[in-house]
Amino acid sequence: MHEERPIIALDFPDFDDLKSFLSQFPKEESLYVKIGMELYYSVGPEIIRYVKSLGHSVFLDLKLHDIPNTVYSTMKVLAKLGIDMTTVQAAGGVEMLKAARKGLGQGPLLIAVTQLTSTSQEQMQEDQNIQTTLLDSVLHYAQKTAEAKLDGVVCSAHEVEAIKEVTSKDFVCLTPGIRPNGSDIGDQKRVMTPNQARKIGSDYIVVGRPITLAEDPLVSYLAIKKEWNA
Ligand code: C5P
Repeated sequence: MHEERPIIALDFPDFDDLKSFLSQFPKEESLYVKIGMELYYSVGPEIIRYVKSLGHSVFLDLKLHDIPNTVYSTMKVLAKLGIDMTTVQAAGGVEMLKAARKGLGQGPLLIAVTQLTSTSQEQMQEDQNIQTTLLDSVLHYAQKTAEAKLDGVVCSAHEVEAIKEVTSKDFVCLTPGIRPNGSDIGDQKRVMTPNQARKIGSDYIVVGRPITLAEDPLVSYLAIKKEWNA
């Protein structure tokens, strides 16, 4: 499955910044936006209702990780907000992943974080005492996520092909770390262009600063969208 709209990561500290950012887009341009912990915890559920009222789709990235019962009831609450996609941590285990799915229901997409891309192999082995390669751990978590009947995972674009091989080609891979040619990489390390991400089979791309910090966010967004759909 290939979503035509690049997901814009709305990493803003407050509601006013978000409103002024969104006001730069024409009303008829329906966007897909990612709202993370910072905005959600500072503004609350009102932010979801606001963005949905403008006709946009919402990926609420809260990365839930708790006992199955707590995740189940939290997902029930989130489902009522009308979100389109949300996240959990695969490390919570299959039972927790199944509880998340049950709480959220079948409508919205539910995807799991495997290993955070900020985690190095050395850190994983030392901190989590997982004595395999990072890729093996990512693939293992992806298989567990598929077993729990979630829709897919958040991953590095470099992992997409291997993940689809051990799960299925319909297993959703959502990839951040996307940079159009010539743009500032910032703190991202292993980046791909929208076009490369498309070629290796990403289903969704998440793009933040190349759009949010652009001189003209609309122009930048449309260029990235065009490259992604080329
Ligand atoms: O500004 P940039 O395009 O780097 O933003 C990418 C977004 O995706 C940020 O919200 C970042 O937190 C998120 N993300 C990421 N890498 C991951 C998971 C999430 O960059 N592995």
